[in-house]
Amino acid sequence: MAGLITMDDLSNDEILSILEDAERLLPVAEGKLYLPLLQGKILGNLFFEPSTRTRMSFETAMKRLGGDVVNLGDVKTSSVVKGETLFDTIQMVDGYTDIIAMRHPRQGAAQYAQDAARVPILNGGDGAGHHPTQTMLDLFTIKQAHGTLEGLKVILAGDLRYGRTVHSLSHALTRFGCELIFASPELLRMPREIVEDLSSHGANITETEDLLASLGDADVVYMTRIQKERFADEDEYTKVAGAYKLHASNLEDTKEKMIIMHPLPRVDEIHPSVDKTRHARYFQQAFNGVVARMALLCRLLGVTVPKDVHAIGGEL
Ligand code: CP
Repeated sequence: MAGLITMDDLSNDEILSILEDAERLLPVAEGKLYLPLLQGKILGNLFFEPSTRTRMSFETAMKRLGGDVVNLGDVKTSSVVKGETLFDTIQMVDGYTDIIAMRHPRQGAAQYAQDAARVPILNGGDGAGHHPTQTMLDLFTIKQAHGTLEGLKVILAGDLRYGRTVHSLSHALTRFGCELIFASPELLRMPREIVEDLSSHGANITETEDLLASLGDADVVYMTRIQKERFADEDEYTKVAGAYKLHASNLEDTKEKMIIMHPLPRVDEIHPSVDKTRHARYFQQAFNGVVARMALLCRLLGVTVPKDVHAIGGEL
């Protein structure tokens, strides 16, 4: 069965349909309705890199839908330290589970796992490559705020070079006709091959180092952390660390409905003063990971989300 490795695995209609399922599943994610659509199914969580949100929201999504989860746990206490290959690990977990969520430091690892597996693989981040389940919750959050995905002006800011969230999201936003502003230090510009690919698909892209000058007419500002762990040279990291620090005082002349997003974790790129503003959406965004992943788990496991969840589910 096919998994979700990049956003190319979903058509625009499929994206919109999964987001509609996610909307219907909100009361289940909030713990107000019991709807065991995935009873008897097992998710394998294979995280070879640290994660809080992706791993926990997959687990929450599965459990809220009555399913079960098995975890590789800390890689240091698994047989990976004995030299077991990714191929062999996947052969095992493929037999133990119905679907696998995986994060790996190596770009392309999720596709490699999918080629080796019988069950669907959900790519929870492969190095600096892709993070499509994050993109689905990002799109859900944008649609929740603006009622549409189409024609919005979106700033993607920070570490565009190594940031897999912005790689996947920029592809999806281009397909919905959004205007993109890439704000980053020179060293962390969006990779040329991604810019060229987006441009060949008709993207309207502006690149700048001046984040603040672009804020005024943006509908979405998507901040990212500068990913220290992906720099080969610490001196290079030092040159760009702290490049952008958004403060509440920067938001006075922005659009009423502009939202600030961040895949989290943040370091210092969004000051806590922003948290209390009407623009802050990053904690809601993290919660939306549960509904988006519920909808994806159902879709990839071939389980239909009922139109009226209240008619089927039990109130809690
Ligand atoms: N957004 C995100 O991928 O967060 P984690 O690294 O905590 O999973």
